[in-house]
Amino acid sequence: MTLLTILRYPDARLHKIAKPVTVFDERLKKLIADMAETMYDAPGIGLAATQVDVHERVVVIDSSETHDDLRVFINPEILWASPEKKLCQEGCLSVPGIYDEVERPAQVKVRAQDVHGKSFELSADGMLAVCLQHEIDHLNGFVFVEYLSPLKRNRIKTKMIKEEREMQRSEPTDKPRKARRGSAR
Ligand code: NI
Repeated sequence: MTLLTILRYPDARLHKIAKPVTVFDERLKKLIADMAETMYDAPGIGLAATQVDVHERVVVIDSSETHDDLRVFINPEILWASPEKKLCQEGCLSVPGIYDEVERPAQVKVRAQDVHGKSFELSADGMLAVCLQHEIDHLNGFVFVEYLSPLKRNRIKTKMIKEEREMQRSEPTDKPRKARRGSAR
């Protein structure tokens, strides 16, 4: 398995719209394995292929306390979202160190395919529901900070660009910086 490099906000490639997966082969299995390894290493609880510069509709999530419940969603779509909304603190492996509250539907029903291309449906609430919506946003080229006010978003952008410059100065290697907490996705 290979650790993949995670794109950092405000990298323009995070705004590409991912294409549907049509071939369920060994290459896809390898991508999923590498994405899972990258997510656990970061550490994070979710990762979309967009974040590793692969613009295909692939998401991995493990929102369990024990970090042993990997879920794979290929071509995920939200079939239903509850009218009831919930405010939840979010973070993102592409925006390391930044956490802020985002309001989203509290429950969602999602349809996706598994690694073999088999279709399944899943109803989710709590952290899994938040995570699914956050990752599907990534596939659509949307980063969670875009829900925040323009003022906050610009501050974050400036901070990220400054950190990126400092990292390039202090670390000649391109090793990704570790997330501060384990709830980034
Ligand atoms: Ni994210």
